[in-house]
Amino acid sequence: MNKTTNRLVIVFVFAVLGVLCLAPCDCFGGQKSGNRKVDKKSFGKLADGTNIELYTLTNARGVQADITNFGATLVALRVPDRAGKIADVVLGYDDVQGYATDEFYIGSIQGRYANRIAGGRFTLGGVEYKLAQNNNGNHLHGGVRGFNKVVWQEVNSQPTNAASLSLVYVSRDGEEGYPGNLKVTVTYTLTDDDALKIDYQASTDKETVLNLTNHAYFNLAGAGNILNHELKLYANRFTPTDATSIPTGELRSVKGTPLDFSRLTSIGARINSDDEQMRFAAGYDHNFVLDKKGGNLAIAAEVYEPTTGRVMSVSTTEPGLQFYSGNFLKEVKGKAGKIYDRRDGFCLEAQHFPDSPNKPKFPSTVLKPGATYTQTTIYKFTTR
Ligand code: BGC
Repeated sequence: MNKTTNRLVIVFVFAVLGVLCLAPCDCFGGQKSGNRKVDKKSFGKLADGTNIELYTLTNARGVQADITNFGATLVALRVPDRAGKIADVVLGYDDVQGYATDEFYIGSIQGRYANRIAGGRFTLGGVEYKLAQNNNGNHLHGGVRGFNKVVWQEVNSQPTNAASLSLVYVSRDGEEGYPGNLKVTVTYTLTDDDALKIDYQASTDKETVLNLTNHAYFNLAGAGNILNHELKLYANRFTPTDATSIPTGELRSVKGTPLDFSRLTSIGARINSDDEQMRFAAGYDHNFVLDKKGGNLAIAAEVYEPTTGRVMSVSTTEPGLQFYSGNFLKEVKGKAGKIYDRRDGFCLEAQHFPDSPNKPKFPSTVLKPGATYTQTTIYKFTTR
C-alpha cells in the first residue's frame, strides 16, 4: 500500500468508529445521544408572589428528572421498564402549591438536620441550642421551616458531560435555632447511564450540626403500593429506637428480625410482624448502619420491582440509610390526579444517624468553620 492508500484506510477506520460512537442509542426507544439538556419553566408562584422554577434534566438516552428550586426538590424521575416503557418512579405534586403545603417531605432536601433530634435540644461548645419540637416532642427534618420549605438559587444548569443543576441556599445564623451561617450547595446530575447523582457541599462560619438528605418517595412500578418491591440492604445492623423513633444508642444486629434485608426480600413480607421495632414505627422507619467502612462511596441498597423489572441501586458516602416504608402517607393529592396512600412509596434516605448531636458514640455531625461538608448519593436505574 502506498502512503495515500494508507491514509485513506486510516480515515475510513476512524470514520466507521466515529459513526459507531455517535450512533443513536435506541436501547429503550429513547432519544439520540447529544440530546442531553436542561430545560426550565415556571412551576407557579408562592403566596408571596415569588416565582418558582421547574428544571428538567434530560440525559442522552432520554431519561428525565424534574427538579424545582423550592426545597431543592426532586419532582419527577422518568425511567424505562424492561420493555422500554417510561414511567415516573417518584411521588410528587403538579405545582409549587402542592410542595408549599406538603406535610410528608415529598422529594425535598432535609436540613439543617434530617431525621430526629431528641427533645429538640443539643449542646455544642458548652451552649445548649433549642429547636422546634415538631414531631412527638422531638425535632424532625430541620424544624418548622426546614430546607424543604425555602427557595434555593440556581447557580449552574449547563449540560456538560451530563445534565446537571446546582442549587444554593444560605441558612442564616439562628435560623430554626441552629448556630452559624451555613452555605449549602446541592447538585443534581443525571448521567447517561441513568443514574441520578446528588452531591452536597456545605460550609459554616460557626460550629454547627448538619445532616442532609433527599426525601424522595420511590415507587418503581409507577403506581400502586410498594409491598411487592424487593429490597436488599447492605447493612447488618440498625439503630433501634424508643416509641418516639429516637435511637437508644445501640447498634443492633438485624439477624432474626424483620429488618434483615441482607438478601433480596419483599418489603411486604414481614411489614406487619409483631415486633416491638415494627410496632413503634408502624412499619419500616429505621436507620440502617451501612456495612461500608469510612466515607467512601459504596453500595447501600438495591430494589427490584418484579412486574416492571425496574431495578434501583443506591450508593452513598454516608454511614447510614433510613428505610421508611411510607407508613404515614394518607390521601395525598399527588401528580396528575393520583392519590397516595399508606405505603404507596418508600424512602431510602442516605444520612448520618438520627440524634447524633446527643449520641457521642455515633459518627459526628459537627461541622466546624474552615471545614467542608460533602456527601454524594447515587440512585441508579437498570432493568432485569
Ligand atoms: C421519617 C418518618 C417521617 C417521615 C416524614 C421520615 O424520614 O423517618 O418518621 O414520618 O420522614 O414524611
